[in-house]
Amino acid sequence: MLWFRTPEKVYIKKGCLPVALEELKTVMGKKKAFIVTDSFLYENGYTKDICKRLDEMGIEHMTYSNVAPDPTLSCAVEGTKQMVAFKPDTIIAVGGGSPMDAAKIMWVMYEHPEVDFMDMAMRFSDIRKRIYQFPKMGEKAYFIAVPTTSGTGSEVTPFAVITDDESKVKYPLADYELMPNMAIVDADMMMDAPKGLTAASGIDAVTHALEAYASMMATEFTDGLALESLKVIFEYLPRAYENGKNDVEAREKMAHAATMAGMAFANAFLGVCHSMAHKLGAYHHIAHGIANALMIDEVLRFNAEEVPQKMGTFPQYSYPHTLRRYAEIAEYLGIKGKDDNEKLEGLIKKIDELKEKIGIKKTIKEYGISEKDFLDKLDEMTEQAFDDQCTGANPRYPLLSEIKEMYLKAYYGK
Ligand SMILES: NC(=O)c1ccc[n+]([C@@H]2O[C@H](COP(=O)([O-])OP(=O)(O)OC[C@H]3O[C@@H](n4cnc5c(N)ncnc54)[C@H](O)[C@@H]3O)[C@@H](O)[C@H]2O)c1
Ligand SMILES: [Fe+2]
Repeated sequence: MLWFRTPEKVYIKKGCLPVALEELKTVMGKKKAFIVTDSFLYENGYTKDICKRLDEMGIEHMTYSNVAPDPTLSCAVEGTKQMVAFKPDTIIAVGGGSPMDAAKIMWVMYEHPEVDFMDMAMRFSDIRKRIYQFPKMGEKAYFIAVPTTSGTGSEVTPFAVITDDESKVKYPLADYELMPNMAIVDADMMMDAPKGLTAASGIDAVTHALEAYASMMATEFTDGLALESLKVIFEYLPRAYENGKNDVEAREKMAHAATMAGMAFANAFLGVCHSMAHKLGAYHHIAHGIANALMIDEVLRFNAEEVPQKMGTFPQYSYPHTLRRYAEIAEYLGIKGKDDNEKLEGLIKKIDELKEKIGIKKTIKEYGISEKDFLDKLDEMTEQAFDDQCTGANPRYPLLSEIKEMYLKAYYGK
C-alpha cells in the first residue's frame, strides 16, 4: 500500500490569509489562539494582521516570538511552558521552516507532555511499520501553518527538523501526526523577503522536488507535483530574486511551487542530499537551502549510476532507474540530449545556471569554511548523514565512503 496525505485544508492565492482565518470562528468556534513566530517577523509586523483579525473575531491570543533559525529543543520547551499556561485550542505558526517546525514540536509537547524527544526521533525504514507509536495529535489544539518563505514546504509536511542543544545533532522528526491541519499560503507574507532568503529557500524547494521525484517512495501522485513545481521554480525564482518586492506574480508562483514540492516530499520523502545538508548546516552553520544547493549536483551524479555498489532498500522497481527519472525531469523542462546521460548533464547545467542567477556560490569552501575545520569534522558528519532519517528513501544506498567522497567533491569543486 502507498498513500497520499496533505493537511485537510490548504488555502492558496495572494490575500487568502484573513479570509481563511474566519473559519476559526464561523466553522470551528475557536476561542484561544497561540501564535508561534520569530523575533524578526514579530518586530516587523508579520503577525499584526493576524492578531487584528483574531481580535475582530473575539478570539483571545498570545504570541511566542522567540524561535531562532534552526530551532533547538530548548526553545521548543520554553514555548511549550507558555502554551501550557495559556491553554490554546488553536496554534498558528507564522514564519519560515524554523517557526513552523518549532511550533510542531511545541504542539506535541503541549498535547502529550509524557513524550520523550529521543523516542520521537527514533529512525525507521518504513513510516507505516515503525516500532514507535507517535502520539495522536489534535485533541487539544488545531494547527495552522502560515509560511513566510517559499520554502521548506513545512506547512504541508509531516516533518519537523529540530536541533538537540547538547549534541548539536539536527533531527528530522517524521510522522503524519505532525501534519498541520490547515496551511494558509499567502504571497502577501513573502513580498519583502530579502534576496538571500529568497535564494536559499527557493533552492531548498528545488531539492525537495528533485529528491521526491527520484525517491524510492515516489508515486504518480507525487510525480506530478514535483515536476510542476520544478518547472515553475526555474521560471519564476530568478524573477522573485531580482525584483521580489514588486513582482507579485513571481512571488505567488514561488509560494505555490514550494508548497507543491512540499506535498510531493511529504509523501515520497527526500534522500541523501537532505541527509548531508542537515549535517553540513548543523556543523558549519550554512543555511539549510544553501547546504542542499552545495550537495545536489554530486547527489544527482551519484544516484544516476546504473551499476551502484548497493541499491536502496525496499525499492518499488527491480533495477536502478534513477538516470531515467532524472532524464524525465529534463524532458519535462525542455532540456534536449541525445541520450539520458546528456539529459542529466543538461539538468545539472540548468541547476547550476539557476544557482548562479540567484547568487549561490559553487563550493562549500567558498562559504568560508576552512579546510582544516572541514576535514576535522568530516568523519563525524559523514556518519551522522548516513544515519539521517532522509537516507532511507534515497534510490541508491550510500556507503560511508561514498558520502565522504560527495562531501569532499562539494567542498573543493571540480
Ligand atoms: N519541516 C520540513 O519539512 C522542513 C523542510 C525543509 C527545511 N526545514 C527546516 O526549515 C528551516 C529553514 O527554514 P527557512 O529557510 O524557511 O528559514 P527560517 O525560518 O530559518 O528563517 C530565516 C530568516 O528569515 C527571516 N524571514 C522569514 N520570512 C521572512 C520574510 N517573509 N521576510 C523577511 N525575512 C523573513 C526569519 O526571521 C529568519 O531570520 C531549517 O531549520 C530547515 O532544517 C524543514
Ligand atoms: Fe529542505
